[in-house]
Amino acid sequence: MKYIIGNWKMNGTMDEKKILLKSLKNIISENKIILCLPYTLLCGENYGIDIGAQDLSPHENGAYTGDISGKMLKSAGVKYVLVGHSDRRFFHHETNELVKEKAIAAIKNNIVPIICIGETRQEKDDGKTMSVIKKMFSECVPESGKYIIAYEPRWAIGTGQTPTPKEISAVFETLHKMNKDKAPLLYGGSVNTGNAESISSLPHVDGLLIGGASLKVDTFLPIINSAK
Ligand code: PGA
Repeated sequence: MKYIIGNWKMNGTMDEKKILLKSLKNIISENKIILCLPYTLLCGENYGIDIGAQDLSPHENGAYTGDISGKMLKSAGVKYVLVGHSDRRFFHHETNELVKEKAIAAIKNNIVPIICIGETRQEKDDGKTMSVIKKMFSECVPESGKYIIAYEPRWAIGTGQTPTPKEISAVFETLHKMNKDKAPLLYGGSVNTGNAESISSLPHVDGLLIGGASLKVDTFLPIINSAK
């Protein structure tokens, strides 16, 4: 079983959600499918597919206009939530400290945080991939509770570029060694119908986090079917 997690980012209408979820409804797959939707699409009919959010507040409630808490997500039926996605770190300057607080807030509400980590292009070019990954892992992971780790190099997100199998394997070997809680370890960043099978079958890769290719059934379904 592999985790296949879609991240719709700031995309999608109610009609588009309905079309995708309806077409996934009856598929037979050993893989665990989760779709991380924008807040506006979390409620309503989910056709038996597990739904995740893309962010949450570290606070429980109060005067935080525009924010959504773990408690609110839970009441909307959300089971998973992305925390520390590269878009949040980049556009909203989220730190490892805040990402950890968000992961803890999710766990407190029985929601599994999907903690995203990954180096920038500059960090990769400077040979810092491993040190960045280790630091993010150790500073973002909560002391207790169930969570998932997603390794997503920022430079691979939405670019069509991916690390080589050797580079991915080296990162996952490192993550595996640090992974005392045996959290599922996912790869994300330009996963598509052509590379899903080979990436998901690398050692210690427990699944995939998919952005652009999760928006349409003709690209998402082949990924679900080929991940092994
Ligand atoms: P991508 O995005 O698959 O479009 O590269 C992945 C992500 O940002 O989670």
